[in-house]
Amino acid sequence: MNKKRIAVFASGNGTNAEKIFENFKNHDQVEVVLLLSNKKDAGVLDRAKKFDIPSLSFSRQEFYDSQSVLQVLHGHQVDFVVLAGFMWLVPSYLVDAFPNKIVNIHPALLPKFGGKGMYGMHVHEAVKAAGEKETGITIHLVNQHYDEGSVLAQFSCDIEPNDSSEKIAKKVQVLEHEKYPKVIENLVLNKF
Ligand code: GAR
Repeated sequence: MNKKRIAVFASGNGTNAEKIFENFKNHDQVEVVLLLSNKKDAGVLDRAKKFDIPSLSFSRQEFYDSQSVLQVLHGHQVDFVVLAGFMWLVPSYLVDAFPNKIVNIHPALLPKFGGKGMYGMHVHEAVKAAGEKETGITIHLVNQHYDEGSVLAQFSCDIEPNDSSEKIAKKVQVLEHEKYPKVIENLVLNKF
């Protein structure tokens, strides 16, 4: 059987991307074939290099106007797109080209703390300011709107009253690293 081919999109440090690379390294049914970033100097590019995964960065114009990213994905015969800390809205041509085959992770329990501007530490600061007793992660399919596609899985963790937003971020990151690669694996291998 041919392996399922994943492209990972990431904008920043790429700790989640690295966990995904690790999970599928030497996997017999799934492989990460490409890392794409909207930032030329993103830390995730070095992480891809470490795993010998080809990478490419692209500009806003290339992403939103020229559809050249789609040609790259087709050129690599990509089956699934995984967003791992990717901060740009996915354009509709891409959603249409990969129906139910683009997955995202959000660092909160959607529909709370989602939408435009809710990413990274902004989310954890808002969770702290709201005095929430728990937070967590949401893994969902991607449609044309920020954080609104069908939810595949959610996992939660407790917040203690004196947890700082940094502490909350750390708890969420532990969950992300543990859960995201396995949920991706289940999606790609049609085990939902
Ligand atoms: C992760 O916490 C991810 O959930 C979040 O960005 C972080 C990336 O960290 N994504 C969003 O906020 C999307 N709205 P990483 O670069 O270390 O994987």
